[in-house]
Amino acid sequence: MLASGSGTNLQTLIDDPDVKGHIACVVSDKPSALALERARQGGIPAEVVSWGKHGSRELFSIALADVVEKHGGKGVILAGFMRILSKPFVDRFPGRVINIHPSLLPSFPGRRAVEDALSHGVKVSGVTVHFVDEQVDHGPIIAQRAVPVRSDDTVETLHARVQEEEYQLYPEVVRAFVDGRLGLVDGKVVWD
Ligand code: GRF
Repeated sequence: MLASGSGTNLQTLIDDPDVKGHIACVVSDKPSALALERARQGGIPAEVVSWGKHGSRELFSIALADVVEKHGGKGVILAGFMRILSKPFVDRFPGRVINIHPSLLPSFPGRRAVEDALSHGVKVSGVTVHFVDEQVDHGPIIAQRAVPVRSDDTVETLHARVQEEEYQLYPEVVRAFVDGRLGLVDGKVVWD
């Protein structure tokens, strides 16, 4: 699992008895990430691969993949990981990297998804879980849930509503993935 921030999605996965035993490690680019503390509290190995110590995105991505493999990780779940992963990383785990994003992709990719959705005045936003490719917030869509946008929403209130859906959807998808019921075949998402 890769996480950069508070790790509330990570927590829902740690709390899921069908998922927890499959989490080989939690890796962050930020030593202060609360996600690392959540991992330690859950008895899961936690490591930092700092962005600054590596000269390029490629070298950072390779170091990250090395740490995941060192812990025996066969797939990678991104839970609020805020760095862009390059092709050398994605190629090490073909069809086995999954991300969650707080909008209905392909609308509003990027770090400011909730803010962008609000400023465009959309009436419905949501959450997307997708396989990761080398482009940002791109790749075959696994599942989506819609969330209504209210006229008095702020970034905080809308993000909170989106996160409630995330906490239901991500464990569902990750359970299917670790059970081998979800995969990517010839670029297509396949559920058993
Ligand atoms: C989530 O909204 C997720 O969709 C996005 O980053 C946020 C992470 O939140 N990729 P948290 O760290 O799980 O609380």
